[in-house]
Amino acid sequence: MKDFVPVNEPLLDGNEKKYLAECIDSGWISSEGPYVKEFEQKFAARMGRKHGIAVSNGTAALDAAVEALNIGPGDEVIVPSFTIISCINQIVRNGAKPVFVDSDPLTWNMNVNQIEQKITARTKAIMIVHIYGLPVDVEPVLKIAKDHNLRIIEDAAEMIGQTYLNQPCGSFGDISIFSFYPNKHITTGEGGMVLTNDDELAETCRGLRNLCFQHNRRFVHERLGWNLRMTNMQAALGLAQLERLDEFIVKKRWIGSLYAELLNSVPGLQLPLSATSYAENIYWVFGIVLDDDTGMDAEQAMSSLAKAGVGTRPFFCPMNRQPVLRKLGLVDSDPFDVAERLYRQGFYIPSGLKLTRDQIHRVADSVIGLLK
Ligand SMILES: Cc1ncc(COP(=O)(O)O)c(C=O)c1O
Repeated sequence: MKDFVPVNEPLLDGNEKKYLAECIDSGWISSEGPYVKEFEQKFAARMGRKHGIAVSNGTAALDAAVEALNIGPGDEVIVPSFTIISCINQIVRNGAKPVFVDSDPLTWNMNVNQIEQKITARTKAIMIVHIYGLPVDVEPVLKIAKDHNLRIIEDAAEMIGQTYLNQPCGSFGDISIFSFYPNKHITTGEGGMVLTNDDELAETCRGLRNLCFQHNRRFVHERLGWNLRMTNMQAALGLAQLERLDEFIVKKRWIGSLYAELLNSVPGLQLPLSATSYAENIYWVFGIVLDDDTGMDAEQAMSSLAKAGVGTRPFFCPMNRQPVLRKLGLVDSDPFDVAERLYRQGFYIPSGLKLTRDQIHRVADSVIGLLK
């Protein structure tokens, strides 16, 4: 369809081609190339962390984080139900139990008021996952973690460049992670990063990324790792993208504010909060939740919008609904009413960095048309 507005298109018109050409001309295409270290150092510095460990994607970064914290059989980790399964894969594989909390109805992030009641003697960590554009209210979670001696894993995949009370998202976890998938604020095609201030955790993550080869006895292994290495070509893209992060944030906020202006007065739609007391929305994606009394659910809305030439994506399917977790007996009977409703009624509209003013107006008109 000629006029189709895709849900995301990355912007790659800075130094990406130049740095990639340098990889090809020099022959440095593997993870051994110099851009990987440079990207790790510059990204970690931007987020105010000591160590950056570049990996092959955000899911891999989470796997490494969980493994590095030695989360295993008998342990529990508190996570939001409304998130992507990447957050819990390694918790489950390692024989630990994810313990879910419901979402806040306004920010769509984990409801921090439910965390403390889920803590048991087996709780080892809390995973903070910043969703869609606003950070989790981090301070109360850090206090709970301190009071109960728990580790924090921070998933800032969707929050590159966002801040919480003026401190970068990704600077709060014992281990924090990012994704550089093409719909993220900066992309490396596929890619991810682990950040930490802890020298030992950083060393463990570097080992896990590279098959746990040892420095002095390369092919002798004390632990099982993976190959999660990022290539020099991905890091080249990442460096070029990082140079433009501030500009990208401004563009994302412009997209979000324009949508908000065009859709604010439309009855039947819940839009993202433009700000909370601790952050301004960075609009990784612009989500919409349909009121129940519209008589329409997200699936119906997305199908109508597709016919109008507008790309959409559904909201996350909550973890408490996942067949794989139910089969494993990992879902207890607690209600997750907010996450369920977000799943049933929520979707997001085109939010990529290439969007034009005309496209935003077209998308908004199509959304308004839904409810007529
Ligand atoms: C919150 C969150 N965590 C982790 C991931 C996984 O990242 P990746 O797709 O790079 O594996 C995503 C992906 O979009 C995400 O949104």
